[in-house]
Amino acid sequence: MKKLLITGGAGFIGSHVVRLFVSQYTDYQIFNLDFLTYAGNLENLKDMAGKPNYTFVKGDIYDETFIHQLFTKHHFDGVIHLAAESHVDRSIHDPLAFAKTNILGTLNLLNAAKKQWKNTSDHLFYHISTDEVYGSLGQEGFFLETTSYDPKSPYSASKASSDHFVRAYANTYGLPVVISNCSNNYGPNQFPEKLIPLCINNIKNSKPLPIYGKGENIRDWLYVVDHARAIDMIYHKGKHGETYNIGGWNEWTNIDLVKLLCNVMDKKLDRPAGTSEKLIEYVTDRPGHDMRYAIDAHKIKNELGWEPSLQFEEGLSKTVDWYLANEAWLNNVTTGQYQRYYEAHYQTTDV
Ligand code: NAD
Ligand code: TYD
Repeated sequence: MKKLLITGGAGFIGSHVVRLFVSQYTDYQIFNLDFLTYAGNLENLKDMAGKPNYTFVKGDIYDETFIHQLFTKHHFDGVIHLAAESHVDRSIHDPLAFAKTNILGTLNLLNAAKKQWKNTSDHLFYHISTDEVYGSLGQEGFFLETTSYDPKSPYSASKASSDHFVRAYANTYGLPVVISNCSNNYGPNQFPEKLIPLCINNIKNSKPLPIYGKGENIRDWLYVVDHARAIDMIYHKGKHGETYNIGGWNEWTNIDLVKLLCNVMDKKLDRPAGTSEKLIEYVTDRPGHDMRYAIDAHKIKNELGWEPSLQFEEGLSKTVDWYLANEAWLNNVTTGQYQRYYEAHYQTTDV
């Protein structure tokens, strides 16, 4: 039975990746390593608990000794590495936390894999990254796999650094690696500090919707399950040593996106049209705010046959429905209830 380590599996994207792999690959033993920070909680995977091919391990990728012990015990065949500090605004306030988890945590995993994997052809280290490493676009153009790195926030600088280390380990030590750089994800289980779930939560509670600057910044949005499908394809069919860009061909200015969300939620909450838009407040811009991200996703389509499956309006509607149906989840993540529960009930797995 192949042993696959997925890091960050209790977080937003990781929880969808774990669910897909545990359900589709019953011949794999899936280990989900997660430190259960504010962004991760096991409620995201409650339907996975008890599955025979699924094991949760609580641990910190920054803890070198722990990571080496874990690899020595389990001899993983592959790694899909998602664990990270992921929010740009937090990175502006605490860059060091991002360097520790995103750069040094990744290095610990790379070192452990390098030490264990003598016969490299049977293994794969798949590093999940972001389009933000490419920097900021003007009105024209797209990020290609060949676009030079130009990270501009502490978050994107930490992700760019980890991407470089992954490629350096392939080049220097022959580690089998693959990297994908994806655009902004949305969907169930996303912590309500990012734009879409923050606005859903605030519209629900009739609280202000903070729009940075003039709301003209542009992001390309992809439904999280489509990202998980792409990760599955790249893990199984991607060419080792390659990079794949993943995107939704779905650009929106922040203000247009938030207005669309307001309309969708007015209908679902049975409020008169225009009610939620009145909550929009323009606030001080994010320092160094990247203007536009846009992915050219031709390579993954042409080489692996992947395309986004959901139209944005459909994905947004599903997302709103999920948050409205999961009020307890929203309340618990925003008040730290899950964290307190796990601190009281969980033992760190003995490696
Ligand atoms: P998230 O913040 O929702 O989840 C991150 C997970 O990592 C959490 O479960 C957290 O507990 C865990 N974690 C954090 N520090 C850890 C540590 N030191 N040790 C072990 N676990 C730790 O993030 P996300 O949005 O799901 O992003 C997952 C990955 O995808 C990240 O690498 C991110 O850079 C990348 N990515 C995200 C997006 C996006 O739009 N969210 C887009 C492209 C790429
Ligand atoms: P975010 O969801 O934080 O993702 P990222 O910064 O990684 O793209 O933000 C998406 C866009 O929305 C970004 O341009 C910043 C903007 N934004 C706001 O205008 N208000 C907010 O409260 C947040 C969180 C983001």
